[in-house]
Amino acid sequence: MKYGKVAALAAAVVMALSAGSAMAGDAAKGEKVFKKCAACHTIDAGGKNKVGPNLHGVIGRAAGTLDGFKYSKAMQDSGVTWSAETLDKYLTKPKDFIPKNKMAFAGLKKDKDREDVIAYIESQK
Ligand code: HEC
Repeated sequence: MKYGKVAALAAAVVMALSAGSAMAGDAAKGEKVFKKCAACHTIDAGGKNKVGPNLHGVIGRAAGTLDGFKYSKAMQDSGVTWSAETLDKYLTKPKDFIPKNKMAFAGLKKDKDREDVIAYIESQK
């Protein structure tokens, strides 16, 4: 009994650690996942804003601060700084993480898709 509990706890810790590590993502696969984002976002340096803001170097940027893009008030007031962790939460379900933000995207349900696309975004800076 006791052993079972410890083993379950250890498994949970391992899962939490791997979920928290964006480094586990595969940037090449993430580039393919990014096709879902590319309808609205460019990611090349100096790329234009489309329906959504350019995402070059977005990691480390405060949300809602790229010059020349008209963000929602919700995004500007979110107080979020983009990191692997906040991107993971946002991309799981954008409307839950920042209510009333105007990104019309349901989210990436698969952990692996998020890990890969975040690895790709991290590589574009
Ligand atoms: C239908 C268009 C659309 C799609 C598809 C889309 N986005 Fe967005 N995205 C937006 C819009 C619009 C905003 C601005 C939201 C706001 O101001 O409330 C945004 C904002 C963002 C931001 C915040 C940027 C900043 O400067 O603060 C990130 C990060 C982001 N999107 C990532 C992604 C990723 C990654 C994907 C693909 C998995 C994606 N988006 C798919 C339209 C889209």
